[in-house]
Amino acid sequence: MYTSNALTTTFLSLLSLATALPTTPPTELVPRCGTTILPVLHSISNKNPSQPAPLTTTFSVSTTVNPAPQPPTLVNTILTFPSIPANSYGCTIAYRIPSGTPVTITGNPTLNITTLGPTSAGYTWDSVYAQQPQPFTHGLFGTVNLAQGGEAVVNSMACPVGGGQLVFMAAIANWVWGSAGVEVAQQNGAGFYLTYNC
Ligand SMILES: *[C@@H]1O[C@H](CO)[C@@H](O)[C@H](O)[C@H]1NC(C)=O
Repeated sequence: MYTSNALTTTFLSLLSLATALPTTPPTELVPRCGTTILPVLHSISNKNPSQPAPLTTTFSVSTTVNPAPQPPTLVNTILTFPSIPANSYGCTIAYRIPSGTPVTITGNPTLNITTLGPTSAGYTWDSVYAQQPQPFTHGLFGTVNLAQGGEAVVNSMACPVGGGQLVFMAAIANWVWGSAGVEVAQQNGAGFYLTYNC
C-alpha cells in the first residue's frame, strides 16, 4: 500500500517529530477506526545506563546472555506517541507487521509492554530503573509476541486528559529464559501504532 514517496514521507515525518514534537501531524499507518499515530522510538540499554536514549527508527528489544559472571545485556525500546488531541478516547496500542517485512527473531522474545510517565527530558536506563520511584505508571500494560505477517492489540487505556503524549517501554518479559530478541524497522510501515476514538 505504501509507495516509496509515502515511505519517504513517513520517514521524514518521524525525523521531524523528533525535533518538533507538537507541530507534526500524526502519520497514518493502517487506519482501522479512528485516527492512527506512529511512535517515535528511543533505545536504552544497561550497557550505557546514563546515556540519554538515542532516537532510532528500528524497534529492537533483546536480552543477550553473557558468559558468567557478567550480567545479561538488555536492550529496550521506548515508544512515544505524540500529539494525542484533547477529548480523545479509547487509546489503543497494537502492532502490525505486513508479511514480507524483514523481522529478526531470536529465541522466544515475549515482550513486556509497560507505561511510562511522559517526560520532556527523555529517558536513560538509569532514569527508568535506578531511580525511586520508578516512572512506571500502570505496571504491566500488556504482553505480545511479534510475528512476521502478524497483528495484535496489546491493550487500551484512557487517552491523556487535555491531550498530550503516551509513553510505553518494550522489554523482554522477565519469565523468558535465555537470550531472546526481536528487531523490525519501523519505516517499513511495520511495528506498533496507537489508535484513538475507536
Ligand atoms: C515488566 O517490566 C516492568 C518494568 O521493567 C517490571 O517491573 C515487571 O516486573 C515486568 N514484568 C514482566 C512479567 O516481565
